[in-house]
Amino acid sequence: MAVIKAAILGFGTVGQGIYHILNEKREALREKLGVELEVAKILVRDTSNERIPGTQHLLTDNIDEVFAEKGMQVVFEAIVNEEPAFSYLKQAIENKCHVVTANKVMFAKRGLELQTLAKQNGVFVGYEATVAGGVPVIKTLKNILLVNDVSCIQGILNGTTNYMLTKMRKEGWSFEEALLEAQRLGYAEADPYNDISGQDAFKKLMVLSDLAFGEQPAWAEVEVIGVDTISAEDVKVATEQGMRYRHVAEVERQADGKIVGKVAPMLVDREHPLFPIDDVFNAVAIDTNYIGTLTVTGPGAGMYPTASVMVEDYAEIIGKRAGFVVTI
Ligand SMILES: NC(=O)c1ccc[n+]([C@@H]2O[C@H](COP(=O)([O-])OP(=O)(O)OC[C@H]3O[C@@H](n4cnc5c(N)ncnc54)[C@H](OP(=O)(O)O)[C@@H]3O)[C@@H](O)[C@H]2O)c1
Repeated sequence: MAVIKAAILGFGTVGQGIYHILNEKREALREKLGVELEVAKILVRDTSNERIPGTQHLLTDNIDEVFAEKGMQVVFEAIVNEEPAFSYLKQAIENKCHVVTANKVMFAKRGLELQTLAKQNGVFVGYEATVAGGVPVIKTLKNILLVNDVSCIQGILNGTTNYMLTKMRKEGWSFEEALLEAQRLGYAEADPYNDISGQDAFKKLMVLSDLAFGEQPAWAEVEVIGVDTISAEDVKVATEQGMRYRHVAEVERQADGKIVGKVAPMLVDREHPLFPIDDVFNAVAIDTNYIGTLTVTGPGAGMYPTASVMVEDYAEIIGKRAGFVVTI
């Protein structure tokens, strides 16, 4: 059977999840796609740490070794920050590899550039995992956009802060108590700045804006207000009034065509689609001209939800490229 060689860049939470799923679903994927996928290289910084038994021989800390591998056709990227991730994926695309990424920091800034380059090179870019982890919001939006116009998107795009707001409401915890528990459970990083400040949600919002509107608002014009502006007392008062605080990332096309965005705590009533979304869940509500408002919800992060949508991206790409070059 034809074999497709793949590389995994980054072998932390997400990278290892991809490896596990590709192994567990090997036969099912082979049957469905008619090709065998072989993970041929795994890029990390520290090759002395094996992480998953039996993978030591695949590890490298040298990207040139990844691209020197004959017949490489798919690159999964799960490293952090804009660089070197962007340069690696650019090189992969120029080498005619399909790429699948989870890296929202890189993709918020360079996503359109990579997609243009991919078109020129006849390959595909999968980026479902960059927004809301396991929630299939990119797929859903792409389908909707075939027929509908999207006017506004509102999302809970950060599970950590949604967990904190939920606990502040249900348990009466202070912001600090909720943050400590989120860190203890591994939801929040030791440095929770990106979650709390809204920067994490902002990056995901920019990816959604690119897709829905073909452009982003000027970053400097997007107001980004952190969830740390909400106190236990604010939450208590809101609850007494039948309202809930959500940390909402919102982007819309105004009547004059201008795209405007905002990330901020928002009070929502029980009629609002984001009202029932509790704990670490993410949700995205999309306003359209024909369907009305459509809301998708699910787990926004984690090893398996995130890796699963990346493997789905791979399967979709292979499906699209039924007649592409494979190595035997
Ligand atoms: N975790 C989630 O639930 C989640 C959800 C959605 C999206 N994402 C995104 O997915 C990406 C990966 O997240 P993660 O949680 O898996 O991170 P992680 O656990 O910290 O793993 C990052 C991996 O990337 C490797 N790495 C970092 N910089 C590198 C470089 N310059 N060259 C080679 N390897 C490098 C690290 O190598 P070493 O191990 O050798 O240090 C590590 O294996 C991030 O962009 C994140 O935003 C994560």
